[in-house]
Amino acid sequence: MILGVLNQKGGVGKTTIAVNIAATLAGEGRRVLLIDADPQGSALAWSSARTRDPLFPVVGMAKPTLHRDLPSLARGYDAVIVDGAPRANDLARAAILACDTVLIPVQPSPYDVWAAQETVELLREARIYKEALAGAFVINRKIGNSAIGRDVTSALEPFAMPVLEPPLCQRVVYAESAAQGLSVAEAAPRGEAAREIAALVAAIVDICERKDAA
Ligand SMILES: Nc1ncnc2c1ncn2[C@@H]1O[C@H](COP(=O)(O)OP(=O)(O)OP(=O)(O)O)[C@@H](O)[C@H]1O
Ligand SMILES: [Mg+2]
Repeated sequence: MILGVLNQKGGVGKTTIAVNIAATLAGEGRRVLLIDADPQGSALAWSSARTRDPLFPVVGMAKPTLHRDLPSLARGYDAVIVDGAPRANDLARAAILACDTVLIPVQPSPYDVWAAQETVELLREARIYKEALAGAFVINRKIGNSAIGRDVTSALEPFAMPVLEPPLCQRVVYAESAAQGLSVAEAAPRGEAAREIAALVAAIVDICERKDAA
């Protein structure tokens, strides 16, 4: 499984989601590698902030050749998670081509829905070379049972891509845990954030297994 968490829009939650998905998959006993494909190095900073034993290695590889370099790096791992960079089109294109499944985090705001177009376009282009490339949206920072939280799912319909359940809500534990290089499951194992991440990972594993069976 090579899973990209990608969106050229900045600050949508790529690193937060990548780190927490990686931690949950590692907690389930999978051999996990996290690739920091962002020159900002946020996932590397997360692992440097950590004082506990690492859950998985984090490797920095913000290169437009990622799709060529990743297969040899990925050998020996059950799951490789790629944390993408904002803006850089060449890096985004390489990251999409390196992955077999792409998650696009979107915040419940019209600006995020409009901006998603750019990443969806790159995904469509990449499908010319990689027909089986799967894509799905993840709604991040949903606020309670807000109307905009519900509307965003219908606003994403024209993109004709699945929206994974459950959405991730706006919760302070995502930033608090990151400051210590922890996952939400480590910082608050019985919290709502840990529960929603575990359910999201189950949905992702389901997509990947169905893809493998096809
Ligand atoms: N569900 C959430 N609830 C609360 N805060 C969140 C949530 N998701 C992300 N954040 C916060 O939003 C900010 C941006 O998140 P993050 O760095 O993961 O986004 P990003 O897409 O990786 O950004 P960049 O494009 O700069 O790489 C961070 O401060 C993070 O702690
Ligand atoms: Mg990031």
